[in-house]
Amino acid sequence: MSDKKIYIFDTTLRDGEQVPGCKLNTTEKVELAQQLEALGVDIIEAGFPISSPGDFHSVEEIAKIVKDVTVCGLTRAVQKDIEVAAEALRHAKRPRIHTGIGTSDFHIKSKFNSTREEILQRAVQAVKWARNLVDDVEFFAEDAGRTDNEYLARVVEAVIAAGATVVNIPDTTGYCLPDQYGEKIAYLVNNVKNVDKAILSCHCHNDLGLATANSIAGIRGGARQIECTINGLGERAGNTSLEEVVMVIKQHKQLGFYTNIKAEKLNPISRLVSDTMRMPVQPNKAIVGANAFSHSSGIHQDGFLKDASTYEIINPDEVGADGSKIVLTARSGRSALAFRFQKLGYSFTRNDIDVLYERFLKVADTKKEVMEADLNELAKAYNAAAVTA
Ligand code: KIV
Ligand code: ZN
Repeated sequence: MSDKKIYIFDTTLRDGEQVPGCKLNTTEKVELAQQLEALGVDIIEAGFPISSPGDFHSVEEIAKIVKDVTVCGLTRAVQKDIEVAAEALRHAKRPRIHTGIGTSDFHIKSKFNSTREEILQRAVQAVKWARNLVDDVEFFAEDAGRTDNEYLARVVEAVIAAGATVVNIPDTTGYCLPDQYGEKIAYLVNNVKNVDKAILSCHCHNDLGLATANSIAGIRGGARQIECTINGLGERAGNTSLEEVVMVIKQHKQLGFYTNIKAEKLNPISRLVSDTMRMPVQPNKAIVGANAFSHSSGIHQDGFLKDASTYEIINPDEVGADGSKIVLTARSGRSALAFRFQKLGYSFTRNDIDVLYERFLKVADTKKEVMEADLNELAKAYNAAAVTA
């Protein structure tokens, strides 16, 4: 059986940019959109055109410059929003309108003071408005994660009948467990009569740290698109991290999926997004964190130096990272110390290393990390003592 393509829908410029402090100007957005295209994403959600004249302009410019990727604009289920989005996308080679409405009872009652029937009608109407303006319409059932499955299936069937080409099932609040989310998608696959006429999409938030696991569960349940952001940026605890889902799919070939992402560009684009949005990446972040390929404990360093695959499941080159690092701390061992001295051009015997290691530990206990300058000092003192002896 041939592998199934998973469409990567990047929303760094929309859900990611909603993060306080991450706002971008048009030049920055266009530059990032070009890099996202080079990375190999299938869809770029460029913004929310009605939200501000600046965002309208950004979507318009991205639509002009991007060549092969679908450019998407977000709207509420409001006619004016949809018309404005279509206008912003008018130069796009492949325009998509992403419209939708909350479908959980929390949203229906508290946000809209409405009923399930009325929301269903508004959903269908929004898709019809959008389909009159573009061929590719994605519908989002906001808070689908907490929406009753039977009602959700009715909404999905109705919006597909109205012309939706993609139906997004967001776990807006990051509430679902992976098996629940996977089963929700599978329920739709099995209970929506016309489901084969559209692609189901996963859009997961990370409030419980489950966004990546939920997205993978979603594609295993039958979804074929993942909505995600570089570095997992997004509202509150963030969205599904693009680099994580791409590498899960790549590492676990037995799942039978593939994406078009050029993995070697993941670290460069992570740095670019972090710098442009002025949002540092946590050092222990999977795939793109500064420590993702660092080894600091003696047991790990010894194994890694014998065979990298003992402690690394990904070659850092594969994801464009700087390379594996042997970091020296008071928990490091002799083999790591010998390795680092060797890298600096010193050739010490095992006996030399035994002596140097005791001195190294004294230094290491006073510091968080023993640096190159410290090693040079240790080597200089050791060699000088050897000459005078
Ligand atoms: O999290 C969410 O539900 C969203 C929708 C607007 C797609 O971002
Ligand atoms: Zn979202």
